[in-house]
Amino acid sequence: MFLVLSPNVFCLCLFSLNKCALVIVHPDVKNWIKYARFEEKHGYIAHGRKVYERAVEFFGEDHMDENLYVAFAKFEENQKESERVRVIYKYALDRIPKQQAQELFKNYTIFEKKYGDRRGIEDIIVNKRRFQYEEEVKANPHNYDAWFDYLRLVESDTDADTVREVYERAIANVPPTKEKRHWKRYIYLWINYALYEELEEKDPERTRQVYQACLELIPHKKFTFAKMWLMYAQFEIRQKNLHLARKALGTSIGKSPKHKLFKGYIELELQLREFDRCRKLYEKFLEFAPENCTTWIKFAELETILGDTERARAVYELAIGQPRLDMPEVLWKSYIDFEIEQEEFDKTRNLYRRLLQRTQHVKVWISFAQFELSAGSEDTLAKCRQIYEEANKTLRNCEEKEERLMLLESWRSFEHELGSESAQQRVAKLMPERVKKRRKLQAEDGVRLVFTCFQSYIFTTIA
Ligand SMILES: *[C@@H]1O[C@H](CO)[C@@H](O)[C@H](O)[C@H]1NC(C)=O
Ligand SMILES: *[C@@H]1O[C@H](CO)[C@@H](O)[C@H](O)[C@H]1NC(C)=O
Ligand SMILES: *[C@@H]1O[C@H](CO)[C@@H](O)[C@H](O)[C@H]1NC(C)=O
Repeated sequence: MFLVLSPNVFCLCLFSLNKCALVIVHPDVKNWIKYARFEEKHGYIAHGRKVYERAVEFFGEDHMDENLYVAFAKFEENQKESERVRVIYKYALDRIPKQQAQELFKNYTIFEKKYGDRRGIEDIIVNKRRFQYEEEVKANPHNYDAWFDYLRLVESDTDADTVREVYERAIANVPPTKEKRHWKRYIYLWINYALYEELEEKDPERTRQVYQACLELIPHKKFTFAKMWLMYAQFEIRQKNLHLARKALGTSIGKSPKHKLFKGYIELELQLREFDRCRKLYEKFLEFAPENCTTWIKFAELETILGDTERARAVYELAIGQPRLDMPEVLWKSYIDFEIEQEEFDKTRNLYRRLLQRTQHVKVWISFAQFELSAGSEDTLAKCRQIYEEANKTLRNCEEKEERLMLLESWRSFEHELGSESAQQRVAKLMPERVKKRRKLQAEDGVRLVFTCFQSYIFTTIA
């Protein structure tokens, strides 16, 4: 123990032998402080300071005790040496594990509140919170929420190197399993990292590296994150690197085709007005998911917008020819609306006929009749009535009483508005007795049903 003490301690001993001996025999922090206070009390300020400095040296960084630093700081505070006070506190706070530095922290806070500027106080608050997050992520490195909080704090407060270091530490905690649900929070660490590099640091080269490293890490054979591919592509577009954006999206649909990726890629080419590329992508998309009616419709709509009705029609034809479709009723409705929009009424009729070969659903009949009514040809009424009559015949043996009733209700309201007295009576006779009685109650329902033709549950029988 004597060997550790430097000769200066012996010099100090000359001034106050008793206390000095105490320190040497019992080198507790307590005794060092007593010794220093003794010197201070007797006005030997320089000596007091030396005792503290020796004590700091004596215990080194491995055996730091907060009490020593609190006392040392207090001593300097008494001397109105606030810069020294601050240095002492910071030195100690940086080195003592925080759970052993509670008193130190409290006293430092008190000091800064008394003398410090706001900045100093904010610093210590930030330090305290940093410390808490540091503890949390150490305890559980896969607690990504703790990393987010931690990162938010360092991003708001520190230099780029520190922020990067924390990001690098955070992303190093790859989820232990290859299950997507375990990656969902984790992937946002990468996203935030990339956004930080791009928007805060304005460093495109690093941004690119972050995206690429992340895309290499994701096990695309198991699952992918379309969002990541799309964000990367959008970043490259902002950098005016169109070819890199396309390359990334091309790779993405090669590696792990997904609806969102096709959709995003097509949207991108649409924005760039690269319609031929859109067409190629739609073709690929439909090879990947030929049953998806939304895609067929979107493709046909694109051709329509571009004024290429022949192509649009060809797309619809291919679509309705698919053996499996997820929402055939929506597809057919879209095709029919398309022909109506083109004022191709014969083609529309033809479509209704083809549709009726596949399904006899009452709503198709009603829709057909309504179409005839709105088509506005010379013999509109006759044509419309003829459809109702045909439907009446077809649904004659219909098991579904409700369906037949729905048809008659629709027919009746048509005749009621436009038909002659005798035509109205003819339909009225068809209505079942039971229904005539409750028809007042049902009138509203009937009308509503007519106008919701083509709802998604109609065609369950076709596909
Ligand atoms: C440090 O702060 C505590 C209160 O948290 C106080 O009781 C104590 O006296 C302070 N120590 C010094 C040396 O000022
Ligand atoms: C069909 O494709 C669209 C994109 O065009 C997508 O949003 C939708 O989820 C797909 N539907 C199904 C059932 O996969
Ligand atoms: C409607 O169908 C029934 C058979 O169920 C038939 O008796 C009747 O004449 C038909 N009415 C009209 C107006 O076609």
